[in-house]
Amino acid sequence: MIAVNGLSRIYSVGKVEVKALVDVSLALEDGDVTCVMGKSGSGKSTLLRQLGLIDRPTSGQILLDGQDVTRLSDGARARMRLTRLGYIFQEFALLSELTAHENVYLPGMMLGGDLSYEKRAAELLGLVGLGDRIRHRPKELSGGEQQRVAIARALINNPRVLFADEPCANLDSISSEIVMETLLRLNRDMGVTIVFVSHDPDDKKYAKRLIFLKDGRQVPEYL
Ligand SMILES: Nc1ncnc2c1ncn2[C@@H]1O[C@H](COP(=O)(O)OP(=O)(O)OP(=O)(O)O)[C@@H](O)[C@H]1O
Ligand SMILES: [Mg+2]
Repeated sequence: MIAVNGLSRIYSVGKVEVKALVDVSLALEDGDVTCVMGKSGSGKSTLLRQLGLIDRPTSGQILLDGQDVTRLSDGARARMRLTRLGYIFQEFALLSELTAHENVYLPGMMLGGDLSYEKRAAELLGLVGLGDRIRHRPKELSGGEQQRVAIARALINNPRVLFADEPCANLDSISSEIVMETLLRLNRDMGVTIVFVSHDPDDKKYAKRLIFLKDGRQVPEYL
């Protein structure tokens, strides 16, 4: 369970302050599928980065299973990210020189990996429908396939919570459907809690819970 209390993130750029997130509070239950919606610049990625322990808030609290993760050291947060969370970035962020297979098992290596991660990486690529593409490098894959490699990579540590920042941005509608169905299957079959970002009102249908942001604030549905 994730509880967020009064979360704010203010970026300082020179003398200008950008209030990217203002006093956001919410509670997400285990097994939920939540969609964060809002227009470009509304703070969606900023919120996801706070929840995924990639960035720290300016003020407010995030409780992960009752533990205040905003107060943990950088090292403890990195360990928690590696062992419990999965993150799919708005850009796929695959390493171009590595094969699909190597991209997926790399985080396992960071966990002090052994050969079992290589085997699991190949299984995960099969799970996302890329069993016959594991030796391909990113530039030898379509956009939707690269996004599915990024999903497989986010799953290598068996995360309890998966964050996906606009997983279907820049994909055609068929690839988008395959990516969303892959995520929903993980939720259904393995109980993975999913928080994804979208600015497409059509994606509301995938979510059990909706969060709308406007200028960094939580607002009632408006898209
Ligand atoms: N590192 C940063 N430094 C300064 N300002 C930032 C930074 N990151 C984001 N911002 C600003 O914070 C606001 C929220 O940005 P954010 O990336 O969270 O929006 P978003 O809702 O994800 O938008 P998009 O749909 O375009 O991805 C924007 O006004 C943006 O310009
Ligand atoms: Mg964004």
